[in-house]
Amino acid sequence: MKDKVAIVTGGSRGIGRAICLKLASQGATVVACARDVAKLADLAEEAAKRELPGVIDPQSLDVADRAAIEPFVDATTERHGRVDILVNNAGITRDGLCMNMDDDEFDDVITTNLRAAFWMCRSVSRVMIRQRYGRIINIASVSGVMGTAGQTNYAASKAGLIGLTKSLAKEVGRRKVTCNVVAPGFVTTDMTAKLPDKVKDSVKTLVPLARFGQPEEIAGAVAFLAGDEASYITGQVILVDGGMRM
Ligand code: NAI
Repeated sequence: MKDKVAIVTGGSRGIGRAICLKLASQGATVVACARDVAKLADLAEEAAKRELPGVIDPQSLDVADRAAIEPFVDATTERHGRVDILVNNAGITRDGLCMNMDDDEFDDVITTNLRAAFWMCRSVSRVMIRQRYGRIINIASVSGVMGTAGQTNYAASKAGLIGLTKSLAKEVGRRKVTCNVVAPGFVTTDMTAKLPDKVKDSVKTLVPLARFGQPEEIAGAVAFLAGDEASYITGQVILVDGGMRM
């Protein structure tokens, strides 16, 4: 991935951090984004400690801030000359039963997980179409495929992301831009740390591999889709879920 420029949203921790490190380990220049750029210091340090061949370019971006997206993409394109890979990873949960969910809980999740991915795709796809090359990878969830009680907002956002990705794949395929989804199952990060032990144990009984995934296992699938070997794959949903959906 030498000479490739990647944007990864939500890069400060969890799956996003692992994706940044993986792409940098393959030589990419990784524009790692977080709301608070200070939270990316550790990522840059880790990349330096491991002597990764790529570059980490830490940038501040709140993906829910619609007005910030286009200037961010313009500035990134100007700084690095191109954008080859976009990973829409930033995501939030606001769990609760549908009958008790208020509008803000629904709207916040849709804005961060779906609308923001649309804004990023819209701006970045223009750059990719111009350069006749691009790889867009959207991080959805097994929840968007199967549904999960207590996550009507989150599952709707992730199912929406799948529809968005497939439609965009059909629009931009002729310009050598591929668009795919990675849909993780349960992964050990801050997002799942807050689940009660009882829920964690019951999840494991639903997963043939009988454990949570690690962020690096999601990053591996993302790096594959971002690389040259995935050149004939587009519009796909790759479940990285320990067999849960099966
Ligand atoms: P996490 O909570 O550890 O990390 C989420 C990242 O997104 C953080 O860096 C956070 O700062 C960032 N973020 C949130 N809102 C943002 C905003 N408005 N602007 C910029 N950055 C923002 O979660 P995790 O587990 O690493 O999740 C990453 C992605 O994977 C999310 O899209 C999540 O929905 C998805 N996912 C996670 C699963 C899991 O079991 N952990 C399962 C399925 C999908």
